[in-house]
This record gives sequence, C-alpha cells and structure tokens, in this order.
Amino acid sequence: MARKKITVVGAGFVGATLAQRLAEMELGDVVVVDIPATEQMPAGKALDITESAPIYGYDCKITGTTSYEASAGSDVVIITAGIPRKPGMSRDDLLNTNAKIVSSVTENIAKTSPNAILIIVSNPLDAMCLVALRTSKFPKHRVLGMAGVLDSARMRSFIAEALEVSMENVHAMVLGGHGDTMVPLPRFSTVAGIPITELLSKEKISAINQRTRDGGAEIVKLLKTGSAYYAPSASAAEMVEAILKDKKKILPCAVYLEGEYGVDGVFVGVPCKLGARGLEQIVQLNLTVDERAELMKSASAVKELAAALK
Ligand code: APR
Repeated sequence: MARKKITVVGAGFVGATLAQRLAEMELGDVVVVDIPATEQMPAGKALDITESAPIYGYDCKITGTTSYEASAGSDVVIITAGIPRKPGMSRDDLLNTNAKIVSSVTENIAKTSPNAILIIVSNPLDAMCLVALRTSKFPKHRVLGMAGVLDSARMRSFIAEALEVSMENVHAMVLGGHGDTMVPLPRFSTVAGIPITELLSKEKISAINQRTRDGGAEIVKLLKTGSAYYAPSASAAEMVEAILKDKKKILPCAVYLEGEYGVDGVFVGVPCKLGARGLEQIVQLNLTVDERAELMKSASAVKELAAALK
C-alpha cells in the first residue's frame, strides 16, 4: 500500500512541530511548504526531522520546500500559515492579514491537491475556515477547522490537575467559536465517565471554564513572542490520524453548519465524526436552554467576524 501524503503549509512553530509529530506517528510522507522568503528554512527543518527518524524508527519521507510541486496529490493538507498573535492581541486582530495568506495558500492547494481534506489551524480560526471553503470550493466535508480539540485538551488538563487524576481519565467538550465566546460544556465533560458537575463545585467549574476560554492568551502572555504550538500541533495531529486511519473518531471541530444546532452559513465548533471522508457526521447533543444560548452567542460573534472579511 502506498504511503499517504500529508502537506503542512507554514513551517513555523505550529507547522514544524506538527510535521515532527506526524512523522513520529508514521502517518505518511510529510511535505512542509513555506514562502520563498524563508529560503531553505523548510528544507533545513525537514532534514533535521529526517535525521531523528533512525532514533524513533519511522520510515516516512519528510520534504521541506517553498513550492507546491512536491505537495501535489496530498491526502490531507494542514494550513498553519499566517502570523501569530503577540501579547495584548486577540485572534481577531489577525483577520485580514491571515485571510490573504490563507486564501493564497488555499488557491495553490486546490490546484495541486484537488482531492485533499483541509484542516485549518491559522487564526482567527472560524473565519479562516470560511476563507478556505470559499477559495477551494471543496465540499464542506473536506474543510475542517482545528480548535475544539485544542480547547478541550486545555480544559481536560485543568480538570485532571484539579482532581489529581490521570489525563487519560478526562474527557471534555468545548464547542462554539475559537475565541472568547467558546462554550465549555461541563455536563459533557467527564472523569472516568462521571460528569464533572458531580465532582467539582460550581465555582471551581466556572474557574476552569474561564481558564479554558483564556487558554491561548495565557500562553501568549508567557511566551511574549508568539502563540502556543505544542498543544495546537498535537490537536491537529489527532485529527489527521482520525482521518487517515478512518477511525470514525468523535472530536469537536469547526465545520460549516447549514442549520445544525440552529446555526447557518458559518464555521462553528460542534462534535464531529472524523473518518476517511473527512467530516462524516455532525453529532447532535441535547443542550439545555442556557447551553444553547451560549452557543448562539458564540455563533453570532463568528458571524460578525466573517462579515468583517474584506
Ligand atoms: N504561504 C506559506 N507559508 C506562509 C505564508 C504563505 N503565504 N505566509 C506566511 N507563512 C509562514 C511564515 O513564513 C511562517 O514560517 O507561516 C509560518 C507561520 O509560523 P509562525 O510565525 O511560527 O506562527 P505559528 O506560531 O506557527 O502560528 C501559525 O497558527 O495557531 C495559529 O494563530 C496562529 O495564525 C497562527 C498560525
């Protein structure tokens, strides 16, 4: 069986870390693409990752390049190209700069890898997904945004810390846009199957919810020169694995909604079944009136930002 081909666009912090993770997971051959201005940097990173292969024992080929030739015919393409935020900036401040970058990248990808499944990582996430969908003209099941996996992983780590239990025991569900209005759902967040609403006080849960919403900003504040990349790359890698191994894994992802959850015409994070065809099913949760209202508020914020796209 021929190896799968995965392209990562953007060889910066998120992209390069993701390339390393994909190689170590042996999910396929990996091509990392960046802009010509970065000269041979992508080739350098690819060679460095290749030289760690004998130690980890993976056999995929890693290529770093500034043209799309080597990436042609990719099965999955992850777009991490763009500028990251600096302290004091919101993800929304990146809107028009990153929209231009994501649309030019998508144009190249649509030409060279017309059957690929796209995973968008560039921020502001939900708006960048819309740019990719419109530019690629791919069907909506092949354009996914990475946000919910990351936000849920952050929430999971805070829950595990609060209860002093294994990270493996903790599941969490964060829906909505990838911004201040994201919607952590404690009723659907569990420790060994027990909802955290039975394990933690209301105050503690509300503190965890808020830390989850501020999770990206907390890292930006600490790093000062850029934004998170270890957890974002791990989250994107989990989505790639679900697709390439056709796992039918249910993960919160940003997808284009057309009436599901009462939302229409924007990308919003909802629980999705990921498999070989990309998005295979949107899972409907039975939300309370308050949870639904929060999701609607988040969807409106995403809509407003989408409307500001030039
Ligand atoms: N085509 C390809 N690569 C591009 C393009 C383009 N048109 N424009 C910029 N890039 C590359 C940059 O050259 C850089 O190497 O994207 C890379 C971005 O890397 P970093 O600056 O290190 O940013 P990173 O931390 O990886 O974040 C990338 O992911 O999480 C989001 O908000 C974050 O939007 C940001 C993106």
